[in-house]
Amino acid sequence: MSVQSEREPIAVIGTGYVGLVTAAGFAELGNEVWCVDIDADKIARIQRGDIPIYEPGLRESLEANRERIHFSTELAPALEHARLLFVAVGTPPTYSGDADLSAVHAVVDAMPPSDRHALVMKSTVPVGTGESIKRTFAERGKGGFKYVSCPEFLKEGAALADFRAPDRVVVGDDGDWAGQAVVDLYAPLGAPLVRTDIASAEMVKLASNAFLATKISFINEIANVCEETGADVEEVARGMGLDARIGNQFLRAGIGFGGSCFPKDVSALKQLAGNTGYHFQLLTAVIDVNELQKRRVMSKLQKHLGSLVGRTVTLLGLAFKAQTDDMREASSLVLAARLQAAGATVRAFDPVAEIEARRLMPNVDFSDSALDALDGADAAVLVTEWPEFRELDWSDAAARMSGRLIIDGRNYLDPSAVVADGFSYEGIGRRPQGAA
Ligand SMILES: NC(=O)c1ccc[n+]([C@@H]2O[C@H](COP(=O)([O-])OP(=O)(O)OC[C@H]3O[C@@H](n4cnc5c(N)ncnc54)[C@H](O)[C@@H]3O)[C@@H](O)[C@H]2O)c1
Repeated sequence: MSVQSEREPIAVIGTGYVGLVTAAGFAELGNEVWCVDIDADKIARIQRGDIPIYEPGLRESLEANRERIHFSTELAPALEHARLLFVAVGTPPTYSGDADLSAVHAVVDAMPPSDRHALVMKSTVPVGTGESIKRTFAERGKGGFKYVSCPEFLKEGAALADFRAPDRVVVGDDGDWAGQAVVDLYAPLGAPLVRTDIASAEMVKLASNAFLATKISFINEIANVCEETGADVEEVARGMGLDARIGNQFLRAGIGFGGSCFPKDVSALKQLAGNTGYHFQLLTAVIDVNELQKRRVMSKLQKHLGSLVGRTVTLLGLAFKAQTDDMREASSLVLAARLQAAGATVRAFDPVAEIEARRLMPNVDFSDSALDALDGADAAVLVTEWPEFRELDWSDAAARMSGRLIIDGRNYLDPSAVVADGFSYEGIGRRPQGAA
């Protein structure tokens, strides 16, 4: 690729998880990056070097490349310096389950007429959004604005690694300069490229997330049947995952998927299908299984403790998965609310998600360490697979707790080790161990 395109300045609109990682990743490749966000507090914090999200390596990468990354609440510098404007604003679910595109529309509305610029959509949007935005541009005399779909596949917790070595780069475009410029930008990464039309690129993203969510709900149902039949889902998943046609990823039984993407993207694809008159039955089941899975911990607790009124239950981990502080759609939110509704006192510890968790879970009693959170508890529920819970001194925990029950919502602990410390252990889809 040419030096010119290697150093093409870009803009990133929206400095959340995707926007900041995209900015850092391209700055590492040598691109000048002009970031824009409407949240003035967030921009001020980032400018002070105070990165508002927890993502391993992100702060260091932004710091190391700070001379190439500019932050502003104004669009003008971005439009002046860059022709490719990456859009990474949120597309949360609406009450109907459709994607809320108001932030995307606000970006589209803010664009001036131009023959020099292109919107590059990183935000996850319903199929047809690109065509609709192009129509809007044409109707408003901005037909010179180009449009590229470039969906994002990063995993929170490993987002920078995913930027640097993506499984694939998907570029959906109309075959003009903008699509080629995006292809050139990603070329140094050497990733397999899927260059396609805009609608197909949009669908690759939704279908990929829906497939992964389906895999999780599938293994969760297998786990539930394992519990009824005496099989161990960990053994079953290992045996299945070695089949190259199946693969071992996303074949981990647990208390259901959460996060900012799977729940909303599965629902958005289901609604998208429904809006065209097609009933996507499989995804309806995937969502139902996931909702029920989050609640299965309740029956496990009740089996051991009877009524939960007046009991103290400690949630170990609150983020929707380890290595992130993202609390969006975290299973812990449903679990804490169910426990409180059943009369239990809920205590909790998470090594990075506490600030957001405190905002979302007002009646939960937070502690500064896992051991403190377990003090006096009747039961521990492992919700997030943070490595420090595996390394915890469980014999110390046993001495501090008033009960000796662990429900392992991620099948993360070594059952024989905690049983040796005097605990009753129950995972998901595994035989319970230890004293009944
Ligand atoms: N988080 C992930 O793991 C992930 C992975 C792949 C794709 N995605 C998709 O990427 C998109 C962004 O996700 P996120 O998690 O980074 O969201 P986020 O909520 O962390 O960040 C969105 C940012 O956009 C800003 N914003 C909103 N409206 C704006 C506007 N008009 N102009 C400028 N900035 C504006 C917000 O202030 C916020 O900082 C979503 O569509 C999401 O589905 C997310």
